[in-house]
Amino acid sequence: MTDMESMVRMLDDAADLVRRKLGDADTALVLGSGLGGFAQELEDARCMDTSEIPGYPVSTVPGHAGKWWHGRLEGRNVYLLQGRVHAYEQDDLKKVTMYVRIMKRLGVRNLILTNAAGCVNTQWKPGDLMVMSDFINFAGRSPLTGPNLDMDGPRFPDMSSALSPELRKLCLGEAEKLGLKVREGVYMWFLGPSYETPAEIRMARTMGADAVGMSTVPEILVAVHCGMRVLAVSCLTNMAAGILDQPLNHEEVMETADRVKRDFSGLIRHTVRNMD
Ligand code: HPA
Repeated sequence: MTDMESMVRMLDDAADLVRRKLGDADTALVLGSGLGGFAQELEDARCMDTSEIPGYPVSTVPGHAGKWWHGRLEGRNVYLLQGRVHAYEQDDLKKVTMYVRIMKRLGVRNLILTNAAGCVNTQWKPGDLMVMSDFINFAGRSPLTGPNLDMDGPRFPDMSSALSPELRKLCLGEAEKLGLKVREGVYMWFLGPSYETPAEIRMARTMGADAVGMSTVPEILVAVHCGMRVLAVSCLTNMAAGILDQPLNHEEVMETADRVKRDFSGLIRHTVRNMD
């Protein structure tokens, strides 16, 4: 078997396993740093440990549990991934994004990605939520290099509207109805795991970024390759490096995410409720 054939076999087997243990869903949510508590909002929830899936990478970051949930949210069957693996934990981006290809095989059409991010836009503040309009791949790496999985999508996927215009509009509309001030902006992916330097943040701003973070872009690339609709919501947990005269740390990220969890939950619920 070639490497690609064994990869496809692993993905197909993983999808069979998840379907057998948890059932089907057409929508999936991925919970970023500090946002994992949202899993408690599922009804009829069932869960498996991602370590039960052969070949699945292990998440090592506090706040990333490695659990694959299935349940009902606003009347819809959803998968919910509590904890993701980042490119800085696992050099193999194909493993980091493996769940997206498993979800494609399970019939997922809508993927909602969430993350914690540093705020680059000086008009905004920690605790603001941001719908991602576009991204900059500044890590210079891609999970799509190597042989193309033709059964999933084309060699040269179009990224002109990687973040679904319909889902963005829906989410921003729901935010307005809820009276939440939700931003819309560009996310720039840095590899991490160190936070950025002040000079990098000035560069990011000059290049058009509103937020920076260490995740999500690999998954967007694969989801678009697979033909899914993607919505990404960032919780801006801290001002990015060098904006305020204070150091950055993971505790601040977790605390801010915890502070906005009600707004976050309302936004996600209302968006899922009104998705077609
Ligand atoms: N930089 C990168 N990733 C992050 C940040 C940040 O400032 N905050 C939360 N995730």
